[in-house]
Amino acid sequence: KRKLRIAVMGAGGVGAKFLERAQEWDDLIEIDRVLVRDVSKRRDHPLAAKFTSDARSFAKGDVDVFVDIGTGVSPSAELLEAFLKAGVSVTSANKQAVAASGDKLRAASKASGAMLTYSASVGGGAPIIEALKRAVKTHKIKSFCGVLNGTSNFVIDQVEAGKTFDAAMDEARRLGFAEPDSTADLDGTDVGAKLKLLREIAYPGLTPKHLEVGAITEDSLIIPDGKGLRYVARCWRTEDGIDASMKLEVLDADHYLVGAKGEQNRLILELDNDETWYVTGKGAGAWPTSEALLADVLQIAREANLK
Ligand code: NDP
Ligand code: HSE
Repeated sequence: KRKLRIAVMGAGGVGAKFLERAQEWDDLIEIDRVLVRDVSKRRDHPLAAKFTSDARSFAKGDVDVFVDIGTGVSPSAELLEAFLKAGVSVTSANKQAVAASGDKLRAASKASGAMLTYSASVGGGAPIIEALKRAVKTHKIKSFCGVLNGTSNFVIDQVEAGKTFDAAMDEARRLGFAEPDSTADLDGTDVGAKLKLLREIAYPGLTPKHLEVGAITEDSLIIPDGKGLRYVARCWRTEDGIDASMKLEVLDADHYLVGAKGEQNRLILELDNDETWYVTGKGAGAWPTSEALLADVLQIAREANLK
């Protein structure tokens, strides 16, 4: 069978790792082109000849999959929609773009039959979206709650261990856990997009009547003895819809969510039959995110019978 042709946006912290992994699969995957903001930055890259900054002519139907590892809503959102309209399946790590334009992307995917996947956007390598998609096939979701940002755990635990807040954030950036603009990890921007993506799967068509949003600040990291602190996203059914919150919560030290250390993410899913599911895995960093992207690419290939 022929190789799967992919177009990639982004060759930054996560994108560079994904390109490296995709090249290891070069018997199956052919990287056709790579969109970056500034081509001149990486003349030494082994794929340098395939790099371009021309976003306007990037979205064409001559590839099988578009892999979005860009930042911010635009131009990722427009490219995702254009590729889907051209019949090209997509996978995205860019939760801001997918959260901002989910309805348009779902409509474009439905119209063309191309697949819209974004497992890496929530949970990185942890199969959080997969678990939720499976649960809703046979159950109503009573509630879900989770630790969806690795930088926040990392910083809380480092500060508890005696590091300064700024040093802990610097380390999270150095390890590739933090967002390009790391205020997004602290003010609810990152978790807000992830919470939206999860609630759209758990509760399609419903928006929270109340949404409580808290931020992480240096002064807010106070952990009572015997307790643990986590930035927790929650969404739950009410009598007439859903409510949601995302904020720092003091939990028992042995709580499942406090057990999410460093870059880990965790999700607790309560089903209508009182069953509870637990999901865990590495949620931040170049490696787990690339693995989730690669898994989506290979799944698309399998479903399209290309592989
Ligand atoms: P980086 O800032 O390191 O890389 C972003 C890449 O996108 C760069 O190659 C940049 O080009 C390119 N890019 C940005 N804007 C444009 C534009 N307007 N036109 C063309 N190219 C553009 O970000 P990360 O690799 O850390 O993150 C990438 C995405 O993955 C983000 O959406 C992030 O939220 C998401 N993500 C990150 C995780 C992590 O653990 N870090 C985990 C899960 C998701 P150039 O190199 O020329 O600047
Ligand atoms: N900055 C994010 C985090 C990356 O720390 O969880 C994963 O989405």
